[in-house]
Amino acid sequence: MDLSRTSALVSGGAGGLGGATSRRLAELGAHVVILEPERRRADLLAAEIGPRAVVHQGDHTSEADVRAAIAVAQDLGTFAINVNSAGISIPTPAVATADGTPHDMGVFREMIELHLMGPFNVTRLAAAAMAANDPDEHGQRGLIVNTSSTAAQDGQAHQVAYAGAKAAIKAMALAMARDLGPIGVRVNAIAPGPIWTPRLAGASDELKTALTANIAFPKRFGEAWEYASLVEMMIRTPFLNGQTIRLDGAMSTPLTAMTPSVRRNGADFAGNADPA
Ligand SMILES: NC(=O)c1ccc[n+]([C@@H]2O[C@H](COP(=O)([O-])OP(=O)(O)OC[C@H]3O[C@@H](n4cnc5c(N)ncnc54)[C@H](O)[C@@H]3O)[C@@H](O)[C@H]2O)c1
Repeated sequence: MDLSRTSALVSGGAGGLGGATSRRLAELGAHVVILEPERRRADLLAAEIGPRAVVHQGDHTSEADVRAAIAVAQDLGTFAINVNSAGISIPTPAVATADGTPHDMGVFREMIELHLMGPFNVTRLAAAAMAANDPDEHGQRGLIVNTSSTAAQDGQAHQVAYAGAKAAIKAMALAMARDLGPIGVRVNAIAPGPIWTPRLAGASDELKTALTANIAFPKRFGEAWEYASLVEMMIRTPFLNGQTIRLDGAMSTPLTAMTPSVRRNGADFAGNADPA
């Protein structure tokens, strides 16, 4: 597949899933704009990828940052691919606790802002920019891939805001594909289960075991290249539109991702151990 005249914007493009995607898109020949708040991490990745990668430091919830990143992508080629894989682990509480404490609204808003408002902000601006492209041989002007989660269907305890945001990403894939059909822009989403990325760097062995215990096969964490490979399949398959595909080794999701002792001791993961 030759994407040499194509440019792509990857938000969270220096993270685990985003980084693997940035690498893969560059291998396929595309020019890649890495939209990232973490400048140093993004610069290191861009140096590794080489001249096909450009860093644009910014926040996916900012209209100005995303417009500027899209303008960079448009200078590099036909801006026809957008993958949104930004996110961050924020410990979140239960809806209410036995002692009568309700969920903090600030934390809820923060999770929704980051995992729902941000991807939608990039999607709407990317689609509007892609509308100006000449259609390819399939009549397409672009493809947008958002990142949902198995939590969209299988929200666990202590994941209410995250599950809500990821369920919205899944629901919006079809609605957005129907909105954007008339301009030839496809929208799909990937719903990963536990994938090994830097967000898991501090996890204890017990937590790692807990996270992979309910995966049918292969009995391990997913790897970031597998996410990038699914993005590539979505690029190669024009009839695939409006879908959210789980990438989870046929996992069945327990009520909580944490074993009792991880719940007691794992302060770093308190309330939100599940990376999915
Ligand atoms: N890794 C998993 O197991 C898993 C499972 C299901 C869903 N996901 C989702 O996939 C996405 C990526 O996860 P990951 O494991 O690669 O995480 P990661 O932490 O490795 O990467 C996320 C990247 O997003 C960047 N980022 C944070 N805030 C941003 C902002 N405001 N604007 C732009 N970029 C921002 C971070 O700097 C980081 O580089 C997240 O939305 C996450 O919820 C991950």
